[in-house]
Amino acid sequence: MSGPAVRPRRAVILGGSRGIGAAVTEHLAARGDDVAIVHRTASAAADRTRTAALRHGGRVETILADLSVPEQPAAAMATAAQRLGGIDVVVLAAAAPLTLKRMQKLTAADVTAQLQGSVMVAFEALQAAFPWLCEGQDAAVVFILSSCTVGTAPSQYGAYTIGKYAALGLMRTLATEWASRAVRVNAVSPSLTLTEYVDFLPPQVGQQAAEHTPLRRLATPEDTAAAVGFLLSPQAGFITGINLPVSGGGVTV
Ligand SMILES: NC(=O)c1ccc[n+]([C@@H]2O[C@H](COP(=O)([O-])OP(=O)(O)OC[C@H]3O[C@@H](n4cnc5c(N)ncnc54)[C@H](OP(=O)(O)O)[C@@H]3O)[C@@H](O)[C@H]2O)c1
Repeated sequence: MSGPAVRPRRAVILGGSRGIGAAVTEHLAARGDDVAIVHRTASAAADRTRTAALRHGGRVETILADLSVPEQPAAAMATAAQRLGGIDVVVLAAAAPLTLKRMQKLTAADVTAQLQGSVMVAFEALQAAFPWLCEGQDAAVVFILSSCTVGTAPSQYGAYTIGKYAALGLMRTLATEWASRAVRVNAVSPSLTLTEYVDFLPPQVGQQAAEHTPLRRLATPEDTAAAVGFLLSPQAGFITGINLPVSGGGVTV
């Protein structure tokens, strides 16, 4: 005898058009979720992600928003909820601009931009999503943080690391406060992944990082998407508040 029909979950992926977010979009679409991708610019990469997700037969919505502008994250969540008929899942994968500088050269503007992009976007988007998540099915949130939040902090990534740690604090607070509403909140922390985000780095940086990784390669967007998929799944139903490294053993907890 079959059980009650399970309806697709409704997932919003901030920064779901390219890179790691695009791999998450496709992973969730492939397992039957309806997805809304929020991104800033129309691009060939965004079209490819949408087309790939549509192949799985579910609903795919795209929402253009500049998430760095206050009130845009909340507006994007409202649009996503309206188009999908609610929200069960949120993945925070939008990338804040990356500036590599030593601490004594960092400006307040560099740090503020990271705090805005990493934590304020999440703060605003999730506050807006909360009422829908409370009504959602197996509601869950995953933050994409970074392996810089585990162990030794890398040199020159100060603003980025500060922003990601602030987001880690938000993730842990939400995990505690929202547990009573059955909304789980977790993070994944990938190591270096060759997306457009880091294409300014010389190739030898990637080669050296792979050599220093115990599993002897770099992370792929699909590695992180699989970890996100697990944390969003019913199999992770008793897991909340964790920060899971996806780093080939490069950082461990
Ligand atoms: N790549 C790595 O080595 C690495 C390692 C660890 C953690 N991470 C983290 O993983 C996340 C994704 O990084 P990625 O490498 O996948 O970056 P990416 O390839 O550059 O993709 C960034 C995504 O964020 C969107 N986005 C950026 N700024 C936005 C804004 N202001 N408003 C709306 N959408 C915006 C982009 O949309 P548009 O195309 O429209 O701009 C795109 O969908 C980030 O949080 C990053 O810190 C990355």
